[in-house]
Amino acid sequence: MTLNISAIKKDFPIFERSIRDGRKLIYLDSGATSQKPNVVIDAEGDFYRFRNAAVHRGAHQLAEEATDAYEGARAIVAHFLHADVDEIVFTKSATESLNLLCYAIGSAPLGNIFHLQAGDRIVVTEMEHHANLVPWQQLAKRTGCELVWFDVDSNGRLDLSNIDSLINDRTKIVALTHQSNVLGTINPLSEISKRTHEVGGLLVLDACQSVPHMAVDVTGLDIDFLAFSGHKALGPTGVGVLWGRSELLGQLPPFLFGGSMIETVTMTDSTWAPAPRKFEAGVPNMAQAVGLGAALQYLTKIGLDNIHEHEISLTGDLIAGLQDISHLKIFGPTDLHSRGGVVSFAVDGIHPHDLGQYLDSQGIAVRTGHHCAWPLNRKLGVAATTRASVYLYNEKSDIDALINGVIAAKNYFGVKA
Ligand code: ALA
Repeated sequence: MTLNISAIKKDFPIFERSIRDGRKLIYLDSGATSQKPNVVIDAEGDFYRFRNAAVHRGAHQLAEEATDAYEGARAIVAHFLHADVDEIVFTKSATESLNLLCYAIGSAPLGNIFHLQAGDRIVVTEMEHHANLVPWQQLAKRTGCELVWFDVDSNGRLDLSNIDSLINDRTKIVALTHQSNVLGTINPLSEISKRTHEVGGLLVLDACQSVPHMAVDVTGLDIDFLAFSGHKALGPTGVGVLWGRSELLGQLPPFLFGGSMIETVTMTDSTWAPAPRKFEAGVPNMAQAVGLGAALQYLTKIGLDNIHEHEISLTGDLIAGLQDISHLKIFGPTDLHSRGGVVSFAVDGIHPHDLGQYLDSQGIAVRTGHHCAWPLNRKLGVAATTRASVYLYNEKSDIDALINGVIAAKNYFGVKA
């Protein structure tokens, strides 16, 4: 179904403002963070306005209503991912979700299914965002595990030719991104999860760039854990999700200790509440979770398949337009098969930051830099790239503006036509 972009744009108050001396805002940086519709801003504000109280505590009506709103948001997330409600842990970000997992795994005692020992293997990929690399790297250092990774090939796809030797019988964890935040590549999960489970490992998916943009059904993916952030999915900042299979969450040790996550406490010992509360110590980010619930309902109403289809169509236009510009290199797959709406590129003779600044002067917001994926940039042989990323509120005219902006930047900087 074709999206009605002008109707969608009206839902997002930020598009009412202009940028850089009255120019239309062309926002092509949703890979970094998405804009927020009124329903999300209102849901978060209304929580504070009408229902603010500490959830899971207090015997009063406000506490009851706040708890219902917070737990209602959990149910929405569960429904969105086709998960059980007790499998949804609210965190402050996807980064925290992945760190939670790493710290909890790292503290699992001998006899616990998560226990790691020297010589065990953790497998990642060369295209990971730092949030799904550094925590595993540091866990490997702390436990004496070996960290190995899938290479990225010249098309920006994972090289799976050595999958059987890379994921071997010492492999305990395979952690990878569903969709690269730099290349746009959507990774082939079924082959990787099949091999991971064959050797008894666990598959952890960083779904920050996929969950907001396409239908993700955790029951169909054959994965064990998944993390995503609220703010990239139209939701507020300060809320992330960790999904885990319930039998795994049940055995995973806690991460943060404190109120709400306990079952009993004496002066010398404690026992833990069942998941997900075991992982939600302290008064949680209630208003943000409620805002995320509203965001996922909004996405569901538009339809994730419609959103994905729209983004792929824009991505096709974007890639075709960039390919027509000489001395411009696209990093990542240029075919639309198994890729999402994130396109990174570099123009000979223009530093990505200069290009980003020039585009900004035209009202076009893109991201420049290493995109928190330094090892991937090294592999690509660049210090930085310019990245455009699309979402449901973008339209063909945004892509045209970007293409014209890049051409104009080449003239402005006097580089080869
Ligand atoms: N991780 C976000 C990005 O890729 C911030 O831009």
